[in-house]
Amino acid sequence: MVTFDCCIEDAKIYFGGKLVEGGIVIDNGKIVKIIKDVALIQADHKINAKKNLILPGCIDVHAHLRDFKLSYKEDFYTGTCSAAKGGITTVLDMPNSQPPTINVNILKERKKAAKKKTVINIGFYAAIPSNIDEISLLVREGIFGFKLYLHHPLTEINVESDEELTKYFSEIAKWNTILAIHPDDKKTIEKKLSLLKREKLSPLDIFLKTYTPEGEKKAVERCLRIIEKTRTLLHACHVSNSAALHAIQNAKERSLNVTCEVTPHHLLLKTSDLKHWGAFAKTLPPLRTQQDIEALWEGLKKGIIDVIATDHAPHAVEEKEKGFLEAPPGVPGFETMLPLMLTMVKYEKMRLDALVALTSHNPAKIFGLRNKGEIAEGFDADLVLIDMKKEYLIKPELFSSKAKYSPFSGWKAKAKVVATIVNGIAVMEDDEILVPAGSGKILERGAFS
Ligand code: DOR
Ligand code: ZN
Ligand code: ZN
Repeated sequence: MVTFDCCIEDAKIYFGGKLVEGGIVIDNGKIVKIIKDVALIQADHKINAKKNLILPGCIDVHAHLRDFKLSYKEDFYTGTCSAAKGGITTVLDMPNSQPPTINVNILKERKKAAKKKTVINIGFYAAIPSNIDEISLLVREGIFGFKLYLHHPLTEINVESDEELTKYFSEIAKWNTILAIHPDDKKTIEKKLSLLKREKLSPLDIFLKTYTPEGEKKAVERCLRIIEKTRTLLHACHVSNSAALHAIQNAKERSLNVTCEVTPHHLLLKTSDLKHWGAFAKTLPPLRTQQDIEALWEGLKKGIIDVIATDHAPHAVEEKEKGFLEAPPGVPGFETMLPLMLTMVKYEKMRLDALVALTSHNPAKIFGLRNKGEIAEGFDADLVLIDMKKEYLIKPELFSSKAKYSPFSGWKAKAKVVATIVNGIAVMEDDEILVPAGSGKILERGAFS
């Protein structure tokens, strides 16, 4: 009789769009079978799911794992432990690290360091290199996308010139690789900042009047106009307001190659929360209005939004304690995304199948993560076990992330991640990390044409 590596029994499995009772047989990191009764299966390791829910692990396409010179904010080990605690089995790392991921050498260094420390799967983004010839080299080195900060490019490219952007966008299109954008408008920001600092406004008002919904929409529309010619695969990060979302909806109706994501903080928090938490809720884009929140939920319902991603952007508490304008933007999100979104499922704000599509299935499809994002035979055994009855309060002091603050501090989650399995190995159970640093994998995107 064959002995498999692992067998999970007595679970409620999200399989084929439905919940089915049974077990999952795993071998060599892959799902071999999904069966009703596992009694006759021989396996080296058996996990009793105790009737808990099993979903495909979350694929977070927007995270800042930091490390290197920013290790004081987060490193590959603490970041991936934090992700595992939140039911995330794969993350894509953004390039605004220090040094930024702008060339093949730095990318290789990042991969090497991450391999030694990660407990989950990590893939990488790169910034658009100013030397256009390096685009193909970065693609060959396995990146999952390029990231462009339209208000703050990490390289010497002139983001104010449509002509220049068209050149880079065309080259990226050749390689069938995603271009993710942080949509904002450099000129508007600079002009507003200099004007507003002269007026007698509070730091918070200066911030809100600088990073506006109009700036976000303008940048989205500008990129959409360019991809109409270049046919680049565009992914708009953290859409936060109804105007930007409508621009995307409109482009989708015209069959442009555009996808977009939303974060839990933009779905669940508004400007009054920013007033309450101050710099600890300061993010870019800023938290917006109730009307924007409603537009985002409507966008989820209509399928205009493709992905929910954390934008996990950890900073040191001391940095957040500087004045509001000096404090860096960003909040940790790994340990709160899935519990809070499942809480929304329990409140019937969204359906479970939609959540799985937004956090697993669609990210895998859009970013070309083969054999991921689904529980099915032949797929990677990246799974998350959830207790849908366990309620608890969010306490940032218990985070594995180095960033022990959250604008969701004190919220009640109505579901708990009880275990996370990555490539068939139980990485986290009952808030304990069970594997050594380096047990995770570095992912590389394969060939495209
Ligand atoms: O809030 C944010 N934090 N927005 C960004 O665009 C950058 C990020 C970070 O890296 O801290
Ligand atoms: Zn961003
Ligand atoms: Zn980000």
